[in-house]
Amino acid sequence: METINVCVIIGFVLGVYMFVRKLNEIWYLVKLGRKAYKSLPPGDMGWPLLGSSFSFYKAFTVGGDPDSFIYHLLTRNGRVGMYKSHLYGRPTIIVTDPEICRRIYLDDEIFKPNYPKSVKILEVNGLFSRIDHKSAYRIMVAPMNGYEVLSHYVDFIDQVMAKGLEEWSSMKEPIELLGEIGSLFFKVISRIFLGTDIGASRMAELETLYKDLGPAILSILPYDLPGLTFHRALKARKKIENILECVIEEKRRALEKEEREVESQMDKLIMARDEKWMKLYDNNAIIDLLLGLLHAGHHTPAYAAMWALVHISEKLHVFHKAKEEQESIIKQRPSTQKGLTFQEIKQMKYLMKFINELLRRNTIAVASFRKAKKDVNINDYTIPKGWNNYSPKPGTFLPFGIGTRFCPGSELTKLEITILLHHFILNYKMERVNPKCCITHLPAPKLVDNCLCTITKLP
Ligand code: HEM
Repeated sequence: METINVCVIIGFVLGVYMFVRKLNEIWYLVKLGRKAYKSLPPGDMGWPLLGSSFSFYKAFTVGGDPDSFIYHLLTRNGRVGMYKSHLYGRPTIIVTDPEICRRIYLDDEIFKPNYPKSVKILEVNGLFSRIDHKSAYRIMVAPMNGYEVLSHYVDFIDQVMAKGLEEWSSMKEPIELLGEIGSLFFKVISRIFLGTDIGASRMAELETLYKDLGPAILSILPYDLPGLTFHRALKARKKIENILECVIEEKRRALEKEEREVESQMDKLIMARDEKWMKLYDNNAIIDLLLGLLHAGHHTPAYAAMWALVHISEKLHVFHKAKEEQESIIKQRPSTQKGLTFQEIKQMKYLMKFINELLRRNTIAVASFRKAKKDVNINDYTIPKGWNNYSPKPGTFLPFGIGTRFCPGSELTKLEITILLHHFILNYKMERVNPKCCITHLPAPKLVDNCLCTITKLP
């Protein structure tokens, strides 16, 4: 009798478990109707409210393996390249096939960006509600792309990187390389967008605030509750907005009184007028635009540069080949020339191949998010209107995306990493304190100790 009771209890518990586990699926089955639900790609809607967030988070954080998350989808559902799921509180189609990723990236008619709430803290999409995307994109691309524009910054970037490495090598204690590189890149991006005259203390404050903002990106707990990274990030965001507002106002006054000349992209936005001589951008539009750019302009490329230094230090055959190339370029330099030139950078063919390979293997932007504007059929599966499309690790060379949202900072990123590597390869070596340190992948892949290391100047 007792055995029967135990079996009934186990059966009941299992039944409840199975029912709750299927509840999300049942919810969407009822919502979409049987026929529409059947046309979705294979996959698993996960738990009610939480969806597949736990397994996603486990795979992408400390000690996890993002490839295992994708591999699991493939082995359970076959290699169809699209899988239904539920991530960041939304019904989602995960796309792993490079061709389908491309198709979605390139189809602005049907898909629009739709990042989770934790990314919207940057208002990278919000800016397009104030300025149309084409105009905003032109503003972003103009100061960071093309030979003419970038050659203008080579001297500055060269000095920043050389000085940075010199300082790191003079430190008595090991440094957290990721944060240190972020500081150098922040100097570059703020010089481009804010100019040279905003004051060292304000620059330092902005940089510190961005350190609080960064970790909240792609967090699965985007709630304004004390103790959560998102709460800290919101507070930092408010302070950044206030600082930018002050800077804009000061600049506006000085520019309008002609006390200073137009120098940075911010100055250009402040002074931009339409054909009726009306202001084109108010303070909020400029803040919206710059808030995300200042973040993306130093945070994301710092991850790539950190991996560049780690890999070049650890793969000796690559290091030696890159060093040979650098030395031969320097040998041809006229004795009167000080510092790098853009022409020299263009000769660094091997280094550029190394950087491209690095960007291919270390997927820095772990995912892009799109929302379907209407039901769409791809390879006989439906992505329903409103569903999020999440494209992790497409597997081909799309580190900066493709289409109308192609990363405007790709050329600047490569230039910065090239110049940093140029100085490092010729004059320094790096030793990691924890060579077996674990990796975490959110918001981007990094060593858990932020690459704690010593940088030593070669004799
Ligand atoms: C290793 C460095 C970088 C990587 C891997 C990267 C990756 C990406 C990717 C994949 C996208 C496309 C997202 C989408 O289609 O939804 C993107 C867009 C963007 N990136 Fe980057 N990025 C990097 C550096 C930079 C830098 C230095 C900036 C400079 C400010 C920047 C600013 C932006 C902006 C503003 C967008 C949005 C463009 C739009 O929506 O029109 N990124 N980035």
